[in-house]
Amino acid sequence: MELLERKIREEGRVLSASVLKVDAFINHQIDPVLMDSIGREFADRFSGEGITKILTLESSGIAPAQMTGLHLQVPVIFARKRRSLTLNDQLYTSEVYSFTKEQSNEIAVSHDFINADDHVLILDDFLANGQAALGLLHIVEQAGASLEGIGILIEKAFQEGGEGLRNRGIRVESLARIASLENGRVQFVEKVGA
Ligand code: G4P
Ligand code: NA
Ligand code: NA
Repeated sequence: MELLERKIREEGRVLSASVLKVDAFINHQIDPVLMDSIGREFADRFSGEGITKILTLESSGIAPAQMTGLHLQVPVIFARKRRSLTLNDQLYTSEVYSFTKEQSNEIAVSHDFINADDHVLILDDFLANGQAALGLLHIVEQAGASLEGIGILIEKAFQEGGEGLRNRGIRVESLARIASLENGRVQFVEKVGA
């Protein structure tokens, strides 16, 4: 997606060969106009899949998931990272290990909001090692729902997450795919035919 790639080139900051900082429009300050375009793009790509729910993970997945839900006219559920006193005991839970933070988080979704009739689109801001996506997939499986695909804003294609998910036969749509962050430069994956 050209708009997102331009934003990354202009306002992203390469922190290291593996980390891209996008606090100016995704992770701290949010660009709602960009998020609206992102929502429309995902809605276009996944229209016709009969999506009934969008599932993301707090906190940075919520803004793009919300806009996608608006364009697809379906509810958005965000998995919580810790048990909340106001969630009841009927929870699907999964363990998500973060290589970046070197810690594990339990994520949880109430049984009330996903069931076996649902066709779920998983959405998240980054795809790195794929642990967050696998945790969300595990929740979809526990609900007996169908996973129709995964939408990602920024895929770090030099990490293994995307390949692992696609090897499972899952449709993964990433709006920006980064081949490398070496030497302080963002190099996007070349598009075939572009
Ligand atoms: P994984 O889920 O693909 O395995 O990724 P990883 O454990 O490496 O990611 C842990 C957290 O760091 C996630 O956010 C993820 O979105 C974020 N992340 C991963 N790589 C990058 C990067 O290059 N740049 C930025 N800005 N973030 C990255 P989180 O802990 O769930 O936090 P939140 O922002 O959603 O609250
Ligand atoms: Na995230
Ligand atoms: Na994040």
